[in-house]
Amino acid sequence: PNSKGDQQKMINIAHRGASGHAPENTMAAFQKGFDMKVDYIEFDVHMTKDGELVLMHDLTVDRTTNGHGYVSDLTLDEIKQFDAGSWFHEDFVGEKVPTFEETLDVFRGKVGLLIELKSPERYPGMEEKVAEALKERKMDRSSNHKVIIQSFNHESMKKSKELLPHIPHGVLAGPSWANVTDEQLEEFSTYADYFNPNMTIVTPELVSRIHAVGMKIFPYTSRTQEQANRLFELKVDGIITDFPEHVYFHPVKNQ
Ligand code: G3P
Ligand code: CA
Repeated sequence: PNSKGDQQKMINIAHRGASGHAPENTMAAFQKGFDMKVDYIEFDVHMTKDGELVLMHDLTVDRTTNGHGYVSDLTLDEIKQFDAGSWFHEDFVGEKVPTFEETLDVFRGKVGLLIELKSPERYPGMEEKVAEALKERKMDRSSNHKVIIQSFNHESMKKSKELLPHIPHGVLAGPSWANVTDEQLEEFSTYADYFNPNMTIVTPELVSRIHAVGMKIFPYTSRTQEQANRLFELKVDGIITDFPEHVYFHPVKNQ
């Protein structure tokens, strides 16, 4: 058995909800993550034609619903007609596309929320709407509500940090950031608390350099036990995974 301090506390983040077990970005996937006692559920935010924030990964509804078209060309009423579960498994027939606000109302205070703004450059006013929804619920400053906002669009995160200075923010980094410089990390650290890269670019040196500028690292997206084990060994702070059980099953080593 490990004595206190021996064990790494690995933050467990259910990617698009526990999306290995239930259809991504639905209440079923978020509930599954909650039931698995994860630290955070991650989800992706887009905006409808009529300015409502909804949860969906892709720009279009085609892959994950029985509907068709860009989110930005559909109204919330239209999107709510679609089935967001049957593509995954018949057990989930009838799942709806959740709105951002519905999700806040069900899960705030119960589990951490890792909120990804998807393509915010396509949705003018998105950062303000997200901030408004959080402020209305007094989620913009209370430490009772674990919330992190992240995006691949770093300018959007700078803007969001100004609107929500008490909320931690994250910069997402695809494979092209493999050679990120210390100067770039320093710059990120002026508005972001997390550098969340594609797991393929994570090295022990990168983890140390991120920690040296006072940031944390949650790589994405682990889908196998081997991938989770490797991230543990790299001493990242958290793992964004489709299968939260892999984070619990890791054989913890004495340090
Ligand atoms: O949380 C990070 C991860 O979700 C980014 O990739 O494409 O799954 O949104 P993607
Ligand atoms: Ca995401």
